[in-house]
Amino acid sequence: MTEKRVTFVSKIGVVAAAAGSAVGLGNIWRFPSQTADGGGAIFILVYIGCILFFGIPLMVSEFMVGRSSRANTAGAYHLLAPGTQWKWVGRLGVLTGFIIMGFYMVVCGWTLVYIFQSVSGSLSGTTDLSANFIALQNNPMRQIVWMILFTLLTAFFILSGVKKGIELSAKIMMPILFLLLVVLAIRAITLDGAGAGLNFLFKPDWSQVKSTLFLDAMGQAFFSLSLGMGCMITYGSYFNDNTPLVKTAVQVSLLDTLVAILAGVVIFPAAFALTANPATIVDELVAGGPGLLFITIPELFNQMPGSMIWSTFFFCLLALAALTSTISLMEVVTVYIHEEYHISRRKSTLLVTTGVIILGIFASFSSSFFNFLDVASAKFMLPIGGFFISLFVGWYLDKKIVYAQLTNERSLKYSIGFLKTYIFLLRYVVPIAMLAIFIYGLVA
Ligand code: PHE
Repeated sequence: MTEKRVTFVSKIGVVAAAAGSAVGLGNIWRFPSQTADGGGAIFILVYIGCILFFGIPLMVSEFMVGRSSRANTAGAYHLLAPGTQWKWVGRLGVLTGFIIMGFYMVVCGWTLVYIFQSVSGSLSGTTDLSANFIALQNNPMRQIVWMILFTLLTAFFILSGVKKGIELSAKIMMPILFLLLVVLAIRAITLDGAGAGLNFLFKPDWSQVKSTLFLDAMGQAFFSLSLGMGCMITYGSYFNDNTPLVKTAVQVSLLDTLVAILAGVVIFPAAFALTANPATIVDELVAGGPGLLFITIPELFNQMPGSMIWSTFFFCLLALAALTSTISLMEVVTVYIHEEYHISRRKSTLLVTTGVIILGIFASFSSSFFNFLDVASAKFMLPIGGFFISLFVGWYLDKKIVYAQLTNERSLKYSIGFLKTYIFLLRYVVPIAMLAIFIYGLVA
């Protein structure tokens, strides 16, 4: 930590970089399949509740821990709580990041395959898109090659000093991705029979409630906002002193949620309209699991003129969105090894890349291992990390630091009531509610 740490210069850059980490496959790939599994509208309702009650306060907390320590995830705890066991929260976060990469990179590899298939025209010529996806899933070698490629691509950005790269790609790419999703949503909801998909998305059906609803929605909220593992601590450590933490967290969360819901508005109306057997569509969506995006979206493109161009464009943007997320994941783990063990940035990148590739190979061979990594990280490790971060900021961290960070040394005016409510949320509401969700999800 001797070298001076870079800070993001432009204001929009700060939001864009954090949003770049948040918006990724979690919104466009994981959110729709979790929503299908969780029964549609009810899942979305609970999900939004989790964003508001856990997501935003915890994102502010992570930013705060990062900016007040200006260190990596684990180093932050060393500095703010020297000689205590809090460092384990940082270490847990690093491990979580590593595990997420183990399956995330495999899905990133799929997006590369789909870019390739789009460009070559083979995707638009395929009528059985489920078979196309299943063929990919049954071919571990093919998945491994593309997964390795994506991991190396991420490593390249980590090595080439990413700050400018992330800022730039997030600033230009995100609005384009957003616009493209809007166009696709319009196409999807104007298909015949799309109404049933919209109903599924927005009209709660209480018979669909599962006992793990809260656990699933909470996990998805943490995953999608990149919370609970110190990603936002690392980003916070690059913020400058004038970045408004609360406002930034609200903006990032809003954008992230909007993209996820938009992805739902593309995928569900399309899936309901294009299915050959409407009676069993919900079961099919649930059974389709991770394939949902990769089957339904190309089916939608085949309903549009110039499908090849649309799908090339879409999967390129998806890969870019995924890249800004994998960069943030790899950055956390790499900087940790680099700063804590005094290993050069190059060597730590090499180490992390090798580890991720090994994990990715196992995940490509075994879908149950893939699912295990997904469930362990999103449903357990991230929320557990978040639970401890709320305790850390709520109970341990000096209130002077908390208030100074929230108000940027009093240059932002918040009422005392607001500051007290924030602390109350972190001290009681967030940890107790999370504990209740864990217990209920596990025993019910
Ligand atoms: N939030 C990212 C996404 O939605 C995934 C991610 C999780 C990134 C945790 C960093 C940390 O795709």
